[in-house]
Amino acid sequence: MAELSTSNVGRPQSSVGKEEMSPTGPKPLIVTENMTCGYELERERKLLTALVDISLTVHEGEFMVLVGPSGCGKTTFINVIAGLIKPWKGTASFNGKPIVGTGPDRAMVFQDYAIMPWRTVLQNVLLPFELRDHGISKKDADERARATISDVGLGGFEGSFPHELSGGMRQRVGIARGMVTQPKVLLADEPFGAVDAMTREVLQGQLEMLVMNAGQTVVFITHSIDEAIALGDRVAVISHRPGTIREIVDIDMPRPRLAEGEITGDPRYGELREHLWSLVKDEAFGAKDLPFHEDPEA
Ligand SMILES: Nc1ncnc2c1ncn2[C@@H]1O[C@H](COP(=O)(O)OP(=O)(O)O)[C@@H](O)[C@H]1O
Ligand SMILES: [Mg+2]
Repeated sequence: MAELSTSNVGRPQSSVGKEEMSPTGPKPLIVTENMTCGYELERERKLLTALVDISLTVHEGEFMVLVGPSGCGKTTFINVIAGLIKPWKGTASFNGKPIVGTGPDRAMVFQDYAIMPWRTVLQNVLLPFELRDHGISKKDADERARATISDVGLGGFEGSFPHELSGGMRQRVGIARGMVTQPKVLLADEPFGAVDAMTREVLQGQLEMLVMNAGQTVVFITHSIDEAIALGDRVAVISHRPGTIREIVDIDMPRPRLAEGEITGDPRYGELREHLWSLVKDEAFGAKDLPFHEDPEA
């Protein structure tokens, strides 16, 4: 996209597990403070606590990865930031304001692509402009959509239907649809979970470049520690449910990490991998089969 700068401004400095920042540092974009939230189980008439006491700051231009065992509340966190779920306690704010409802400044990308089979690639990418007024003309939206389609490597497939595309290509449509409105933050929920390993690596590399060039803020959920290290500026490890932040690990490796495909040979990579793996393993094996209705506050 022509209007996007290629600089790497806004990337936070290293600060393992710390949330403070200098007055001149990158701007906090997503801030949750002691945020606890969950679900009302209507049938059981119980409350299910998903996340407890989450204090996390994601800065402008930062790539924040969330890892943690299944059911620990990763998707819930993204849903709070998207404005789909309200905190029970504590606060969640975006760009300095408490989060109330969804907004064009926060776009989501899903694992199952969530693209519409009866629409072409271009029509799918244009969808956000139809669902919400983004204050740009139809012609500009069309141009923006075509540019974004080309950015994700799908140039020439504007008129194709999803069934004519591979899984990796469909996921690119999902990413293009997330980025086309130039949202302040991209909320990605295991976006590459359903594509094969080789395609996944290609998509990771392309996402890294896209995000670097756009200075895009991202919150990205993954099950893969390798993916977390490849993509994240920081990785927040969430404990088993009710999810708390176990540790925030700085991924202090230079970018681009994936262009040459040799990141795994770096000794630092091995150290980070081992550390993250030990944290995640602890949490995965520590996960008790909690009764579905358990509320630690009760
Ligand atoms: N809509 C919902 N209603 C009730 N419980 C839910 C709902 N969505 C998720 N949960 C529960 O909240 C917990 C956290 O879920 P989720 O955020 O999806 O975890 P993760 O994404 O880490 O796998 C789980 O116990 C899950 O069963
Ligand atoms: Mg999930």
